[in-house]
Amino acid sequence: MTQGGPHANPGRLLPAFQIIVSRSHSAASPISSRPGSPLRGRVQVPGDKSISHRALIFGLLARGETRIEGLLEAEDVLNTAKAAEAFGAGVTRNGEGSWRVVGAGIGGLAQPQDVLDFGNAGTGSRLMMGVAGSHPITSTFDGDASLRKRPMRRILDPLVRMGTTVVEEAEGGRVPLTLRGPRETIPITYETPAPSAQIKSAVLLAGLNSPGLTTVVERQATRDHTERLLTHFGAIVTSEQDGAGRRIALRGQPDLRGVEVVVPADPSSAAFPLVAALITPGSDIVIENVMMNPLRTGLITTLLEMGAAIEFLNQRDIGGETVADIRASYGPLTGVEVPAERAPAMIDEYPVLAVAAAFASGETVMRGLEELRVKESDRLAAVADGLAVNGVRAEVAGDDLTVFGSGGSVPGGGLVATHLDHRIAMAFLVMGLASRDPVTADDSAMIATSFPSFVPLMRQLGAELA
Ligand code: S3P
Repeated sequence: MTQGGPHANPGRLLPAFQIIVSRSHSAASPISSRPGSPLRGRVQVPGDKSISHRALIFGLLARGETRIEGLLEAEDVLNTAKAAEAFGAGVTRNGEGSWRVVGAGIGGLAQPQDVLDFGNAGTGSRLMMGVAGSHPITSTFDGDASLRKRPMRRILDPLVRMGTTVVEEAEGGRVPLTLRGPRETIPITYETPAPSAQIKSAVLLAGLNSPGLTTVVERQATRDHTERLLTHFGAIVTSEQDGAGRRIALRGQPDLRGVEVVVPADPSSAAFPLVAALITPGSDIVIENVMMNPLRTGLITTLLEMGAAIEFLNQRDIGGETVADIRASYGPLTGVEVPAERAPAMIDEYPVLAVAAAFASGETVMRGLEELRVKESDRLAAVADGLAVNGVRAEVAGDDLTVFGSGGSVPGGGLVATHLDHRIAMAFLVMGLASRDPVTADDSAMIATSFPSFVPLMRQLGAELA
C-alpha cells in the first residue's frame, strides 16, 4: 500500500502497517482496568469491520475507482488491504480512514507473489478465499496461531463444488492452505451448514465469476452487508424469505463499478463503551454514528429487555445504513433469557453481554452459542473461565451459557486468559471498570485487530486502564 497515489513511495510503510509487523514479534502486554470515576462524554468508535473488509474486496473486484471514507484502520482490515494489493488492486491511503482502491476487475486478478498473511482475521481470509478460489490463480493463505486453529472446511466445501482446487491444506482443513481457481466458477445453490455471513459471502463472491445464478440458502438470516454493498457496486442480488429460510441469489459476471462507500461506526465496537456505561455507577455517555442494521443489533435488543437506559438520538441514513447516536447511562439491569434465534444478530457481543449479565440481578441464559466455539478463540470457554476467575458464577450446558448475576457487586481481581482474542480482552477490561478489584487481561496486543483506539477512547470517557 502506498500513500499519496498508487505508485508513490512504494517502499514506505503505513504507520498502521508497522503495528502488524511489531505484533508478531512482541511479547504479551498485559493491561488492567480498575474501578474509578463515572464514564462521561461523547465518543465515536471506528468504522465497521465487516463493511471495511467488504469495501476493499469489492473495490478490488470492481472496474475503476472506489473511494472509502471511515475505513477501519485496524490490523484485520489492513491485512485485507494488503491482500487486495497482492491481487492487483491499486490501494492508496489519502488520510485518516480515507482510502482509494483502483480495481483489478472480476476475472482480472493478478497472481500474488507471496503467501497472503491474514493475521487474526477470519472475515478477511474467508471472503478472500471466495475471491481467489474463483480465479485461475494460485494463492496461499496463512495467519496467526488463532487463525491457524479455525475451521476453513466450511468455506472450502462449497468452493470445491464451484470448481476450486485445494492444492494443499493444513490438517483438518486449516491455514496454511493453497487454492487454485478455475477460469469461471460453476453456479450452485448452497444451503449453509451454520448461520455464518462469512460462508454466505465466500460463496456469493465466488459466484461473481460464474456465468449463471449462484444461490445461498440460510436457515437463519445473518448480517447482510455483502448483499447490500454488492448491490451498491452494481451487482444484481435478490433476497427472499421462504419456508427454508432466506434465499439469496446473485447473477454472475456483473459489471461491478467503483463507487463511494461511507463506513458507519461499528456496533460491535460500540458494545464495549455501551456496556461499560451501563454498569459503571454515575455514567452517562453518547456514542456517535453507530450502525443500526437490524441484523447487528441483537445486543441492544437484549440490553433493553434487561432494563438498560439506552436512547437513540439523531437517527439518519449514511451510506445505505441507518445510524444513530446512542446515549447510555448507568442503571440496574435484570437477567433475561436470550433466544438462540437472536445469536446471528449479536454473535460477537456475547462476551460483553456476559459481563453485563454479571452485574444484573438474576440469571441470564444465553442459548444456542455453538458458533462461539470457533471464533478467534473458543469464546464460550474463554468467557466462562474469565467469569470464574473474577468470582462470577456461570454454567455451560451444551451450547447454552447461564450467568448468575450479582446484582451489581462483582468481585473482579482476576487475570483473564485472552487466547489471542480481542473481544475477550475488551469485554473483561469493561468488567474491571465496575468490579470491586481491578481486572487484568493477559494481553492487550490483539485489541489492535479491531479497535486500536479502544484504550485512549475509554480513557477519554474517564476509564482507568493501565
Ligand atoms: C462476520 C461474520 C461473523 C462475525 C465476524 C464478522 C462478517 O462471523 O463473527 O466477526 O463480517 O461476515 P461468522 O460468519 O463466522 O458467523
